[in-house]
Amino acid sequence: MPATCVIGLQWGDEAKGKLVDLLAPRHDIVVRYQGGANAGHTVVFGKEVYKLHHIPSGILSPQITNVIAPGVVIEPNMLIRELTNLEDRGIQPRRNLMISQRAHVVMPWHILEDRAINKTVVSGESIGTTNRGIGPCYRDKVGRTHAVRMADLVRPDLTTRIAEIVDAKRVLLSSIASKEDMEELNAERIAQQCHQWADTLGPMLADTTYFLLDNLDAGRKLLMEGAQGSLLDIDHGTYPFVTSSNASGVGVSSGSGVPARWIERVIGVAKAYSTRVGGGPFPTELLDDTGQKIREIGREYGTTTGRPRRCGWFDAVAVRYTARLSGVHYLSLMMLDVLSHFETIQVCVAYDLDGERVDRLPSEAETLRRCKPIYETLDGWMQDVSEVRSLDAFPTNARRYIDRISELIAVPIGVLSVGPDREQTIFLI
Ligand code: GDP
Ligand code: IMO
Ligand code: MG
Repeated sequence: MPATCVIGLQWGDEAKGKLVDLLAPRHDIVVRYQGGANAGHTVVFGKEVYKLHHIPSGILSPQITNVIAPGVVIEPNMLIRELTNLEDRGIQPRRNLMISQRAHVVMPWHILEDRAINKTVVSGESIGTTNRGIGPCYRDKVGRTHAVRMADLVRPDLTTRIAEIVDAKRVLLSSIASKEDMEELNAERIAQQCHQWADTLGPMLADTTYFLLDNLDAGRKLLMEGAQGSLLDIDHGTYPFVTSSNASGVGVSSGSGVPARWIERVIGVAKAYSTRVGGGPFPTELLDDTGQKIREIGREYGTTTGRPRRCGWFDAVAVRYTARLSGVHYLSLMMLDVLSHFETIQVCVAYDLDGERVDRLPSEAETLRRCKPIYETLDGWMQDVSEVRSLDAFPTNARRYIDRISELIAVPIGVLSVGPDREQTIFLI
């Protein structure tokens, strides 16, 4: 099994981090290949809770190499903080972490720009980004002239280059950024910071593309860790309410440099209900007590920003689409324990669009906004499942729910999760 992929099928936070941590020991290398510090992946075992933003969730297994591939955008201050946080807890991430020289750097001006334009209304609502500079950094990557890559941090002409970019950015940002923000655009200070980043991160820089290709040729196994979720994919998600990278399965090859011929298995991760952070259409959103109940029981508050997540019922139309788009072989269905407290559970099986029944996700956010969910109602199980450790041990109604979701999205179940801990997982693969 050369490369297995873990891909979010909703709007992020499906518990990809938990699954990657558990699957990591079956592999040799774990790869993060898109997104950046907008991601927040949680790994829990016992009383230990780890929140990872850039570092792959395989880092807790010391025998595994972890790679941050070219498609990731790196905010060095945050990455260094992640490294020291892990070190403070007795883990030695610098030994088994490699960072691509090709990965782009989220520079201070990207964060200022994200902050300055985040409130802009687009298609009737603001996107509500994580303010981590993700969109502006990817924009500069595509634009090329003002981009900084990790390898540039160790170049001798770095100081001159930073001065040139700061001059250009001051012109671009002067009309949108606040006075305080503009003061942060100090070329000398930023260049100095870059030198510090180079000192700390330089030893981990490598050509990860050759490293991965060589290891695949040598028969090693890779685990590709997606960030965000397929509905946030820049090309195939609920645009413009998306992130700036290919967060669905289609992004694995471009972000990592691992060609499609090596990808053998894709595991799609979905919650047993839906959540979304930030703006954008969300047909099954519950703005009532039921939504609040899901939020409280599921502790649905952002790992990166702490924002309350919007909550709603499972949307089988959306997940059927993303499971096909991401080429999913198995479904990993998470947070089943959260639904133990509902007498009835709704699943959206189609949309009502202006009086017509549709079973495909519309490509326009404006059209999706008009879609009303058509629900199928299933009986809840009203029984704690957090101690369940085998498929047979689930209450009948929970089994019915799991089977119905699998049927609706036409993908077999591979993994079930009944709590945040490593132990609270049932593997069928
Ligand atoms: P990611 O971004 O996809 O890695 O997901 P996050 O870490 O942002 O959010 C998932 C949250 O749910 C984390 O706090 C996990 O510890 C927690 N979690 C994972 N699996 C389960 C589960 O089966 N049940 C419950 N109640 N929580 C879970
Ligand atoms: P993980 O990997 C949930 C959302 C933001 C916003 C939109 C664009 O933890 O699942 P950005 O800062 O990327 O420009 O924001 O995308 N978003 C996420 N939502 N989980 C994430 O990552 C997310 N990363 C970005 O809330 O709506
Ligand atoms: Mg998250």
